[in-house]
Amino acid sequence: MVKVTVFERVQNDKIDMVRFVLDGVSLEFANAFRRVVLSEVPTMAIDEVIFLENDSPLFDEIIAHRLGLIPLTTDLKNYNLRHECSCGGVGCTLCQVELTCSIKADLDGHIVRSGDLQSTDPAVKPVNDDIIIAKLQKNSSLVFEAFARLGEGRDHAKWQPAQIGFGYTPNVSIDSSKCPDCIDQCIAARRCPEEIIDFSNKKAKMVKDYWQECTICEECARNCPMEAVSIEAKPDSYIFTIESTGAISIKEIIDRAMIVFQEKVKEFQEHLKNKELFPL
Ligand code: F3S
Repeated sequence: MVKVTVFERVQNDKIDMVRFVLDGVSLEFANAFRRVVLSEVPTMAIDEVIFLENDSPLFDEIIAHRLGLIPLTTDLKNYNLRHECSCGGVGCTLCQVELTCSIKADLDGHIVRSGDLQSTDPAVKPVNDDIIIAKLQKNSSLVFEAFARLGEGRDHAKWQPAQIGFGYTPNVSIDSSKCPDCIDQCIAARRCPEEIIDFSNKKAKMVKDYWQECTICEECARNCPMEAVSIEAKPDSYIFTIESTGAISIKEIIDRAMIVFQEKVKEFQEHLKNKELFPL
């Protein structure tokens, strides 16, 4: 049976992150979920820039690249992917948003930041206003028009909605009957980079909820002279970490990934039906 156990959730105006254990799925399923999140959950990102003035020391291409990597808040309900839009991908208010920037520096060292971008849709704007775009000298200007579009991570990483990774759920056990021979220090505990092995009263034991931090680096087992540590991965159990770029919430990321998943399964079934492998 599939089970999800959330053990860490951070959500504030700076970070939207979740860590959970996914039990009862295969490695392939866990990886497919990760890949769908990375490559098929869309977000808005700047995809075209028209420079009218650029007196900064940076080439237009470098600034355009920086602009593309600025996470933008995304309204998934009101925008279409370009290739699915009724405009045929030409660009209209249903698939793109214009952001403009017009800065003339009064002083040397004026920094142009993401907060200087003016969006035509208040729902689509930089997640963070402090991302540096360029530095200008006195009386120099940076003026451009940029177009943000809904896109997918499979076309460019700038459209990825989150950082997502998963690892095996560790199961570390220590045979403490072998510990008394280690006079006053536990080498395994000393070598553990996460400091999750407790050695008190000449007995080594794992600290509470150690599995949340253990990376299965195996330093403990490798360095224990008594061979008292054994490590294995819990079968069909994976620890996921998802941290949103801020473009869409973690909830939207997971909901959307599940919709994509279901569509894929349905499509697969349709293809199989068409091949008459399963005549009705
Ligand atoms: Fe875990 Fe042992 Fe490394 S407890 S973090 S595998 S040292």
